[in-house]
Amino acid sequence: MRLDPETISSLVHRDHVHRSLYLDPELFDLEMDRIFGRSWIYIGHDSLVPKPGDYITTRAGKQPLVMSRHTDGQVYVIFNSCGHRGAVVCNEDKGNAALFRCCYHGWTFKTNGDLDAIAMRRGYGASFNADNPALGMRRVPRVANYRGFVFASLCERVPSLEEHLGTARCSIDELVDRAPDGEIDLGAGVHKYMFRGNWKLQLENTVDMYHVPFSHESSVSRSGRQFSRGSGQNAGSAISDRGSAAQRWELRVAWGSRSNGHGYAGHQPVAEQAPDTPTYKAYVSALEARHGKERTQEILQPKRHNTAFYPNMSLQALNQHIRVILPVAVDRTEIHVYPIRYKGAPQEMNASFVRHLNLTHSAASLIQTDDLECFRRCQSGLSAQNSDWVWFARGVDIDQADAHGDWVNHGTVETQQRAQYAAWLRLMSAEA
Ligand code: FES
Ligand SMILES: [Fe+2]
Repeated sequence: MRLDPETISSLVHRDHVHRSLYLDPELFDLEMDRIFGRSWIYIGHDSLVPKPGDYITTRAGKQPLVMSRHTDGQVYVIFNSCGHRGAVVCNEDKGNAALFRCCYHGWTFKTNGDLDAIAMRRGYGASFNADNPALGMRRVPRVANYRGFVFASLCERVPSLEEHLGTARCSIDELVDRAPDGEIDLGAGVHKYMFRGNWKLQLENTVDMYHVPFSHESSVSRSGRQFSRGSGQNAGSAISDRGSAAQRWELRVAWGSRSNGHGYAGHQPVAEQAPDTPTYKAYVSALEARHGKERTQEILQPKRHNTAFYPNMSLQALNQHIRVILPVAVDRTEIHVYPIRYKGAPQEMNASFVRHLNLTHSAASLIQTDDLECFRRCQSGLSAQNSDWVWFARGVDIDQADAHGDWVNHGTVETQQRAQYAAWLRLMSAEA
């Protein structure tokens, strides 16, 4: 396929997109350059690196990165590549180090990426400029932190992070305000898994309220019948008593940023059921001590179920977690799911958040596995020759524009996915 601007624009329409977006390796490579290489990408939460020397490794598109806390207390995002001959320097998922030492020839780097020392320095002649910054583990061009959420851009020419987040920023505010100490903690651990499917399947799904009553039937209906996963297997287990009918989703708010691709779905009714337990009461008291009764009630009012931050992160307020999407290949994606704990909340409450997420969104969980199976089936079915298109037409005639020109709608619409593909087209069409 020739990937000129005309071809790219022929692939994305307001309510349908071409199946090659999920299947073509060249388009995938272009996405890594033009979407992951030219926009703000979520890197990690600063609570993952609380002490100097703490680091995690991750990627933005195909670029290997390290997020580290340096001795100056600041969080840095640097390329995970040695300035000598390019080896990946930090090979672990996370750790703590006084210096980063390359395994190949022993060069060392400070935890802000600066070159620390060249092994056997005397062997280099007078022509060698050890002050060349390219010899370090260079910092990415732009890094910004919004209430603990660290984003980076591989491209210098991007608007401010706050401008990029726009209305979606409120989802971070609503979450962080619920922590009695005003900070969240993502350091409880992480669920990591791969699925055989394109990264956009997961991004679309995070704000897809249409699939919930069907793919997660066992988790949302009293009868608890799960969709058949194997030949002859017709019944699943009843795991929840939350009420089922699809119409319960019809009143949810839907919002999608047509310029930036972010989107959210309004809260679900189950979020309105505050637990009547001494632990929860202690939590409310801690919030009231900080904010007063009136503001606490406002903070605790559920507003959003799930927010997608285009292109690689989602924040779910119900089964509390942050999900990071790491594309691997056109048909393979890695997912990291971090439980959220509230700093200042009772220990038992935070422990219950982590336990609950194990049940809903671990690699062996009840809910996440429903989605992963659907992604796998989509990826295999998309190459069938019955159609060239994937459809996002639900509610297209009733999308309304808000004050910022973004789309608002309600219910089980595909407004958020339309917004994602409007952003896809904008980023993919910009050649330089
Ligand atoms: S490649 Fe890192 S020290 Fe040579
Ligand atoms: Fe789902």
